[in-house]
Amino acid sequence: MDEKKKEKTKEVVKERYSQIAKEVGSCCPICAPCGFDAIEQAKKIGYSEEELKNIPETAIIGLGCGNPTALAELKEGETILDLGSGSGIDVFLAAKRVGKTGYVIGVDMTEDMVKKAKETVIRYGYKNVEFRVGEIENLPVEDSSIDVVISNCVINLSVDKLKTYQEVFRVLKPGGRVLISDLVTEGELPEDIKHSFEAWAGCIAGALEKKEYLNTIKNAGLKDITVVSEKLFSEPEMDNRLLEKIISLQVKAYK
Ligand SMILES: C[S@@+](CC[C@H](N)C(=O)[O-])C[C@H]1O[C@@H](n2cnc3c(N)ncnc32)[C@H](O)[C@@H]1O
Repeated sequence: MDEKKKEKTKEVVKERYSQIAKEVGSCCPICAPCGFDAIEQAKKIGYSEEELKNIPETAIIGLGCGNPTALAELKEGETILDLGSGSGIDVFLAAKRVGKTGYVIGVDMTEDMVKKAKETVIRYGYKNVEFRVGEIENLPVEDSSIDVVISNCVINLSVDKLKTYQEVFRVLKPGGRVLISDLVTEGELPEDIKHSFEAWAGCIAGALEKKEYLNTIKNAGLKDITVVSEKLFSEPEMDNRLLEKIISLQVKAYK
């Protein structure tokens, strides 16, 4: 992809998630059909009722494709980084798991998402979380400072996935780990979908073929790469040609 197209893609993605951040809960006809129930959607994604009861409702907007904190074996006192944290669902879940002695940082390039997440922090008085505006390809995070990097349905949106995983490698402490939930494909996508900005912002067009995705993680220097779980992903009104082609993948790896 040339630089011009990369910039345009990034802008379309930002616009899409900015709109969702501003309009979620107000029956936004662009981001979701009226009557969209984010809690029900979150349960479908894989969050338990118990987990959802224990975090602020403003953090639940039903955008992920898995439940990374349930698989990451987070421990008290650990420092966690969530890539593309959105309104913060996984940050607040992680904060509960790492406790008062731990710390969770969420990074997202969409200012309106970060604003929404920060409002939740203030409203509920969280002391062990922080949200930063930034790009996952150029993380505003110190070298070797993170125990666990998590992410939920974000890296497929990146225009430079190798750079993103290289950044993950940079910020992880030696021995640190990642637990990433993301969308990948089984085989090639139809050409028109691959070139649609709309489909990119909808987490489809930017998804890599599974083998290429796992190779990207390896090429960034991470090791012991394991697919923890995977299943076919579909949405209501999804293009028929995508059925059985999109996979929600949860992958673990170490620095
Ligand atoms: C599908 S949403 C997922 C949000 C959140 N992880 C969740 O599960 O609810 C994707 C999020 O990633 C952010 N994002 C997309 N590309 C990004 C990038 N290159 N750098 C930082 N954030 C990005 C978007 O702004 C959006 O908030």
